[in-house]
Amino acid sequence: MLATTVHADDDHEEHFKSKHGHHQYNTAAPVNATRKTECGSCHMAYPPGMLPGKSWNALMDNLPRHFGSNASLDKKSEQEIRQFLVYASADRDTRPLRPAEAAKTNIRITRTGWFLHKHDEVSPAVFRRKSIGSAANCMACHSGADKGNYDEHAVRIPR
Ligand code: HEC
Ligand code: HEC
Repeated sequence: MLATTVHADDDHEEHFKSKHGHHQYNTAAPVNATRKTECGSCHMAYPPGMLPGKSWNALMDNLPRHFGSNASLDKKSEQEIRQFLVYASADRDTRPLRPAEAAKTNIRITRTGWFLHKHDEVSPAVFRRKSIGSAANCMACHSGADKGNYDEHAVRIPR
């Protein structure tokens, strides 16, 4: 289990559920409807808590050259999304990241130490399957990923 899971309500606000089940309602964060739309059109809107703030900043600095895609936004949306991602980032809870990972700026969730560790039994060939495409396609194996559900008992690897 991740120490912190971020999941979205229907009313587009985010709240945090700690390891011990306490809910810390995130009132200071801007509403994230813009992120849902703009960052959820090509792939699912990845959880902010899966990368540190400096990674989100680096990613948001380079949207016109985003993994071979042009993901540019107008200034207002860009600032709103950046603020939200950094606020809700792993900086709140560094447990999912190893110290060495936290020291460098990596903009891929799939290259973080915790991700590689959790997926060390999934071979690169499996991630490349036609039915999956890449490790970044979380939903292929975790059908509840867009709702923050990565329960290991619900993982189904497509053929
Ligand atoms: C025009 C399509 C498009 C849009 C819009 C888009 N992305 Fe992406 N994104 C991609 C592609 C393509 C990849 C690479 C996927 C892969 O490796 O299979 C990617 C990868 C990523 C990754 C790395 C995934 C990994 O490997 O861990 C992150 C993080 C990410 N995007 C965040 C965002 C955020 C935040 C936004 C909104 C500001 C956004 N994306 C908007 C196309 C897009
Ligand atoms: C090819 C299928 C596949 C893809 C794609 C995939 N995962 Fe996983 N994931 C797994 C498997 C298998 C496990 C290990 C389950 C176990 O421990 O038995 C796992 C475990 C996890 C866990 C730990 C769950 C727990 O309860 O310990 C998290 C969190 C997670 N994945 C997140 C992601 C995210 C985020 C993405 C996309 C960026 C992703 N996964 C993409 C197959 C996949």
